[in-house]
Amino acid sequence: MATIFSGIQPSGVITLGNYLGALKHFVDLQHDNDCYFCVVNQHAITVYQDPAELRKNTRSLAALYLAVGLDPEKATLFIQSEVPAHTQLSWILQCNAYIGELERMTQFKDKIKNKNEGIPGGLLVYPCLMAADILLYNTDFVPVGNDQKQHLELTRNLAQRFNQKYGDVFKVPEIRTPKVGARIMSLQEPTKKMSKSDENNASFITMLDSEKEIIKKIKRAQTDSDASVHYDIENKAGISNLMTIYSTCTGKSFEEIQSLYEGKGYGHFKGDLATIVADTIRPIQERYEQLYNSTELDEILATGAAKANLKANEMLHKVEKAIGF
Ligand code: ADP
Ligand code: NA
Repeated sequence: MATIFSGIQPSGVITLGNYLGALKHFVDLQHDNDCYFCVVNQHAITVYQDPAELRKNTRSLAALYLAVGLDPEKATLFIQSEVPAHTQLSWILQCNAYIGELERMTQFKDKIKNKNEGIPGGLLVYPCLMAADILLYNTDFVPVGNDQKQHLELTRNLAQRFNQKYGDVFKVPEIRTPKVGARIMSLQEPTKKMSKSDENNASFITMLDSEKEIIKKIKRAQTDSDASVHYDIENKAGISNLMTIYSTCTGKSFEEIQSLYEGKGYGHFKGDLATIVADTIRPIQERYEQLYNSTELDEILATGAAKANLKANEMLHKVEKAIGF
């Protein structure tokens, strides 16, 4: 049985991209693995979050973890800030990381690109917090997208460097991430990934959008003028992205979808897709509504935090002993 850790930031309401690309896959992984799924609220504050919004988004994401089918009997679900060992280990890892290697992270370079005001220190060091998240649980695999590969390499380097200096403390996680789900692109700029941090909210569908909003966003999704439902990622990125969503929700292949819409225009296809997406999201929203204000959610998160604290503290104590605390 492998140990798996993954987290999602509560920096907004999660998108259909987060669901199809990550969460849906977590649900499959929980059966045969020892899974830790975390709401990483400490990562979210590397950029300013309105406190009331952050509190709401954190609880909302936890409720969505359950609503999509994560089972607290099968996976440990918790909120990062409720397990202090994450920041404690992060500090120790920061002391063993080099400024040069942190500055080389492409996500750091991207995030500071158009910043005129001061750059928060957290943007530079958050990969050490991510390394702590992973290393605390003796993680074997981290199911994240390709965008996180460089951070995983850093995690491995930090673990190996620590082990060389202080003895064999950390399990070095595999770089091979388990196969993750589809990569969903922005509905407005289909060469960019769909992201909850996008300023243009027509570019993403959230898991809490109403059916009306879903229909409107899919109707307005950018496509080309050639009006034939064909998968061609190079020349027809918009329709190809919508086909990916269609295929991931229904299990139909691109060929099947193509023949289904042969001779029919984009309008017809988009109308069906909106229904498919709404049908995918509706049962999740129904379950979410029951969970969000429930004491059941508080209990599940308290149990999850207790389990995570137990395991994380065990590793933290090993580390502290090794460095002379
Ligand atoms: P976001 O950009 O929406 O803030 P996060 O950085 O919180 O996303 O990513 C959470 C998880 O969702 C990660 O595992 C990431 O790889 C996955 N993910 C994020 N955006 C997409 C997308 N557009 N398509 C597929 N997976 C995605
Ligand atoms: Na499990």
